[in-house]
This record gives sequence, structure tokens and C-alpha cells, in this order.
Amino acid sequence: LLDPTFSQAVIDWQRAHGRHTLPWQNTRDAYRVWLSEIMLQQTQVAAVLGYYARFLERFPTVQALAAGPIEDVMAHWSGLGYYTRARNLHACAVRVVNEYGGVFPADPALLADLPGIGRSTAAAITAFSNGTRAAILDGNVKRVFARVFGVEGYPGEKRIEEGLWKRADALLPVEGIESYTQGLMDLGATLCTRSKPDCGRCPLQARCVAYATGRTDELPVRKPK
Ligand code: ADE
Ligand code: SF4
Repeated sequence: LLDPTFSQAVIDWQRAHGRHTLPWQNTRDAYRVWLSEIMLQQTQVAAVLGYYARFLERFPTVQALAAGPIEDVMAHWSGLGYYTRARNLHACAVRVVNEYGGVFPADPALLADLPGIGRSTAAAITAFSNGTRAAILDGNVKRVFARVFGVEGYPGEKRIEEGLWKRADALLPVEGIESYTQGLMDLGATLCTRSKPDCGRCPLQARCVAYATGRTDELPVRKPK
């Protein structure tokens, strides 16, 4: 299954055409990376930018965030939506301070045990803050993989999702995990969009089953009724 040309295509594209100047890039501060990944879980980049800057100004460190108060945290989240994220964010900061001395654990499995951090978010945080080889699989990446590999079956279904995780693990590059991870995110957000993907500019076009078979509209398979 391991195919180094897949990750290399994503890395080369990211370096030439991906996003490089987002405010949470070019830092290895796990606190800043973590905050960005939580804000970006269900919200687009353009909507996050202002909130991210104001939040960091008020809560510049995990210690400041843990000190709260929660009302202040919620006020700085107000308008971003999915407010469970803000409650989990505060709870997570408290645990990082109390259980890890204010240092986010480097092991993705330990991170994924903290409030609001799932397996994919844990992998993104460790890839960006430590260069750790760990696979992401968020909604955008599921869509890219489902199309490229012609995955038949709804990606929300357990068996299908497990297959996608296996592929995600097997495709990880040996070097350049930050560019690869960011590249998958950028591909899903800017080219391989839900409707009308821009296949003409896509570095994966030559290997994409959905493109080759004219099924970009049918993949990923929709939730069965
Ligand atoms: N969505 C989730 N994580 C992201 C990131 N690091 N950059 C851009 N979009 C994202
Ligand atoms: Fe997505 Fe089109 Fe690229 Fe396939 S060729 S991965 S459908 S953008």
C-alpha cells in the first residue's frame, strides 16, 4: 500500500501552491497550533482569523487560558459557533496545566485523551508542533481520499472509516510531514471542494479514480437514508 509518490505529489504542490502565511503556521508553539485546530474544526479559515488574533491577545498562554474565567473564554468565542468547543478548550487547558505542567504532551494518543481533541486533531497538532508522523483524517481529507481511491461506501460508516484510516497511515511520508499534512488540508479546502472540484489544477489528477471515471459528483458516497 505504501506509495511515496502520493505524499511527494502533495508535498510538492503544497510548497508551490499551498497556504504558507496563515497566523498559526510558521510556529511550533503547541498552544497556538492547538487553538487554531480547534477553531478550524467546524469553521473556515476566513471566519477564524479575527477570533484567533483576539483570543491570543486575551489568552496568550495555556496558563492564562486555564485561569479563565470561563465567561471570558465564552465571550471571546461568541459568534464562532459550536460552543462545546469553547467549554472543551478551557477544560483542556486546565488539564494541560494540572497534569502536564503546562506542556502539551507530544504523544498523539495522550493528546487525543484530552477534551475536544480527536484522533485527527491530535495528529495535526503533533505534526505541526513537533513534526511527528501521524495521520489526519478530517472531513476534507475523507473526501479527497474517497475520490482519489474510488472508495465505495459512506465514509461515516465504521468499516469504511477504518479503511480510510489504514490508507491515511500507509501514505504518510518519511519526511516533510508538516507540508504533507497542510497540503492535504489545503487540497480539500481549495481544489477538491465538495462541489465543482478544480481537477485541472490538482496534483492527484493522474491517479484520481473519481476524475478518471467522471464520478466527482458521486464520491464520496452520501449518507444512506
Ligand atoms: N483546517 C484545519 N486545520 C487547518 C490548518 N492548519 N490550516 C488551514 N485549514 C485548516
Ligand atoms: Fe479531487 Fe479532482 Fe483532485 Fe480527484 S482530481 S482529488 S476529484 S480535485
